[in-house]
Amino acid sequence: MTDQEAQIHALQEEITRLHEQLVEQEGLASIGALVPGVTHEVNTPLGVCVTSLSFLIDELKEVDEQFQSGELTEQLLRDYFDSCHEVTGLLRNNLQRAARLIHSFKAVAANQALIEIREFKLHELLVDIINSLRHETKRYVDKVELVCDAELKLTSDAGALTQVFNNLLINSVRHGFAEENSLAEQGKIKIVCQKQDGQLQIIYRDNGKGIPEVIAEHVFDPYFTTRRGSGGTGLGLAIARELMEKRLSGSIVLQPASSGVQFILHLPLSTNDESIDKKGK
Ligand SMILES: Nc1ncnc2c1ncn2[C@@H]1O[C@H](COP(=O)(O)OP(=O)(O)OP(=O)(O)O)[C@@H](O)[C@H]1O
Ligand SMILES: [Mg+2]
Repeated sequence: MTDQEAQIHALQEEITRLHEQLVEQEGLASIGALVPGVTHEVNTPLGVCVTSLSFLIDELKEVDEQFQSGELTEQLLRDYFDSCHEVTGLLRNNLQRAARLIHSFKAVAANQALIEIREFKLHELLVDIINSLRHETKRYVDKVELVCDAELKLTSDAGALTQVFNNLLINSVRHGFAEENSLAEQGKIKIVCQKQDGQLQIIYRDNGKGIPEVIAEHVFDPYFTTRRGSGGTGLGLAIARELMEKRLSGSIVLQPASSGVQFILHLPLSTNDESIDKKGK
């Protein structure tokens, strides 16, 4: 029990520490903007843990008293065991969820904080991203079709590009093929990379439910989300655009499509440090 309390406490401290660290770092506006969402996300499972734990403490006290006074029957003890099993399971799941959230937030923060221009093969990077999202994309992962020359090399910020694709892929799964719509099973994603006028053009498409025209102009706005109630913070595309423009010296636009979504990305095949907006750093 005290172990779990200690874990909760440690997680809460970790959030505060990360927050402070990020706020201290100049120029990391996009991560700063991430913090309220992450805090909110992490607070939900932690709140469940705190409630569950208080419940367990009360139950324990009651059983202890019944034992002391000789009122504890076998049935009462069995009931107590049952609720212990149930509540500790809940505690475990919620603590794991909180830990995962912190972990992914750290990964995002690390990726974004570290500007690292290097030469890499685009095909390899995209395959790694798709595979790393296996937990998220689950049954859709085999449905990602990648059209990209295996030898195509970029000299760019691989971390930033990874973040952009993470956000696009997660959006396709969460919004395009969401469980509740009938498209979930037929979901397909296609990524086509090609050189165009000395630049790289990437077309990202999914065949999900698409984005209605009335909201299309807002999807890149920070905090714009159609899933506020179910964990959306509305930062995914805002961050993707910021990274495309400021870190990759490129662009991302949403194009009208007859079905699903279509994003067109452009970026130079080679970026150098000087061309990157480090926000005064
Ligand atoms: N592939 C998609 N299919 C359908 N709708 C989409 C897709 N991608 C984005 N959207 C719409 O654009 C909105 C904004 O996306 P964005 O990634 O910025 O925020 P979010 O996914 O709601 O939250 P977050 O990314 O912060 O968890 C979404 O809420 C959704 O309505
Ligand atoms: Mg998103």
